[in-house]
Amino acid sequence: MKRCALVTGGSRGIGAAIAVKLAARGCDVALSYRTQRTAAEEVAAAIQRLGCRAFILQADLADLDQGRDLIHEAAEGLGGLHILVNNAGYVQRIPWEELSLEDWERMLRVGLTSAFILSRYAVPYMREAKFGRIVNISSLRALTGSAHGVHYAAAKAGLLGLTKSLALAVAPLGITVNAVCPGFVATEINLEALATRGDEIRSQIPLGRVASPEEIASVIAFLCSEEAGYVTGETVSANGGLRMG
Ligand SMILES: NC(=O)c1ccc[n+]([C@@H]2O[C@H](COP(=O)([O-])OP(=O)(O)OC[C@H]3O[C@@H](n4cnc5c(N)ncnc54)[C@H](OP(=O)(O)O)[C@@H]3O)[C@@H](O)[C@H]2O)c1
Repeated sequence: MKRCALVTGGSRGIGAAIAVKLAARGCDVALSYRTQRTAAEEVAAAIQRLGCRAFILQADLADLDQGRDLIHEAAEGLGGLHILVNNAGYVQRIPWEELSLEDWERMLRVGLTSAFILSRYAVPYMREAKFGRIVNISSLRALTGSAHGVHYAAAKAGLLGLTKSLALAVAPLGITVNAVCPGFVATEINLEALATRGDEIRSQIPLGRVASPEEIASVIAFLCSEEAGYVTGETVSANGGLRMG
């Protein structure tokens, strides 16, 4: 059966790889971007080349009303919603003493509260479809902490609590909710870290390299599949052995 998916932050990086991977597995995909429409259009073209429908939506997930509208627009545009991947995010490297309340609140809204809001509005569509998969993209930093991104690590750790709690709440509906914690992935979000500390970072990773976005997308695509129907409330790490569970 044709599935309909929404991938937030699907215009670039890991989100773009997820959107294309889901299309390769037969899903129609709505992808959201915040600023880079051209990048989103390139991803949409790749999805269409795979014979699936692509639907581009703009939203700044720091604005929770836009998050709510995003779900309704995606479901109306695609004719339903079976899969939600809460992927959009950003990093801000800053000493914790210099972090303003505004920085903190924005990070929590984009990285954590939006996942709650989007899930809340997505679940009724999934219930109606009698199929639902929610995957929250957390981070290795949720598990290790981050001295230069305490708000990022707090938001990502919060996502793990949300994942387990929501998994319990929607299990009676047959909807699964899981989280993925990537380690270092070759995307723009950590271009600076890889440019300045790339050798040091790679030397600490047992597999000796950073991940490609496609490797992370494969894990997420599995969690979105029919085959993963008995996996829920889990946190799946994909970090090259940097931190084992
Ligand atoms: N790359 C890594 O090493 C790594 C490791 C662990 C976890 N992660 C997590 O994986 C997810 C994807 O990261 P990535 O590396 O693919 O990042 P990326 O290449 O920087 O892409 C980020 C995506 O999120 C969107 N976005 C950013 N802020 C947004 C906002 N306020 N509202 C709506 N959309 C917003 C961007 O849209 P525009 O381009 O249009 O602005 C873009 O599509 C993030 O949640 C990140 O924390 C990444």
